[in-house]
Amino acid sequence: MSTAPNAVADVDAGLTGVHERILSHVVGRERELELTLAAVAAGRDILLEGPPGTSKTTILKAITEEWGIPLFFVEGNADLTPAKLVGHHNPARVLREDYSEENFVPGPLVEAMQEGGFLYIEELNRAPEDTMNTLLMAMGDRAITVPRAGRVVAKPTFRVVASMNPFDNVGTARLSQSVHDRLNRVVITYQDAPAEVRIVRLRSGLGDAEGESSANALGERIVQHAVAVTRATREHPDVRQGSSVRGAIDTAMIAAQLASLRNVHESDDDRYLELFYDAMTVGLSGRIHVDEAAETTPERVLREIWEDRFVLEPRTAAPG
Ligand SMILES: Nc1ncnc2c1ncn2[C@@H]1O[C@H](COP(=O)(O)OP(=O)(O)OP(=O)(O)O)[C@@H](O)[C@H]1O
Ligand SMILES: [Mg+2]
Repeated sequence: MSTAPNAVADVDAGLTGVHERILSHVVGRERELELTLAAVAAGRDILLEGPPGTSKTTILKAITEEWGIPLFFVEGNADLTPAKLVGHHNPARVLREDYSEENFVPGPLVEAMQEGGFLYIEELNRAPEDTMNTLLMAMGDRAITVPRAGRVVAKPTFRVVASMNPFDNVGTARLSQSVHDRLNRVVITYQDAPAEVRIVRLRSGLGDAEGESSANALGERIVQHAVAVTRATREHPDVRQGSSVRGAIDTAMIAAQLASLRNVHESDDDRYLELFYDAMTVGLSGRIHVDEAAETTPERVLREIWEDRFVLEPRTAAPG
């Protein structure tokens, strides 16, 4: 069967309008969204390469929701066998009825092909080689033959989107040349501080640039501080990989709860600094990976960041 991307042409027609709407779901990321959208609208498969928490899922959800097509998630790891990706025959039914098309339970690859969705494989580089080969065949042919279930031809909007963390070196091979040669690539890095502040405001419901009330002022101060210390974890010399904006969102929300539990209303209260440190240890200590050679701990790194920010340079602790 031909793989002419008819449905993609339909999408193309309204691409500009769709583009505007997609942007409204996402804070910033205009360029990454545009590049990703152009690649998938062109009928291509793509690799999004970036550290955790850098909007990869957010971007894909925004695109698939606007296009009205499903998004299937698969985590790439050593357990992702070809059978898990493609599907399997229901063993009980096979015993009763023998193998047939009807008792085949499709896996995410076949589902995405049948429904014309995006198959999103996180950490593709961790998938075993035979799984990778199955995937490459499906990508190349836009069709797959499943033994004893028949041939599945992908709908035109089927895409494979893979992600990879460039810092990832946990027992993984790099992707082979043949995989790279079949994928387009968009590199995603951390957003700048103002964008991260907007994300934390949006996700935590705290702070508000125009807020006048003291609760708003404290919330805004918490948001600014959470973003600043989270960004500092990425710069610290003893840290291999710092925290994403997820750590900032959680630190801010935990700090706000601590402020209310401890009845702290002002950010120039000494007790604020203490509660903020406590919130950092909860929100960030599990999210930073210290360099093995550095002989330090996440707690110690966080203490240093906190002291730099609030004790050594207290003036810079003021937002803005
Ligand atoms: N540009 C953005 N606009 C709005 N929210 C965002 C943006 N980037 C990240 N977030 C928020 O930060 C969190 C992490 O984002 P997301 O899940 O998109 O990251 P990811 O790149 O898919 O991470 P991972 O590689 O760990 O899967 C989510 O809670 C999301 O709501
Ligand atoms: Mg994700």
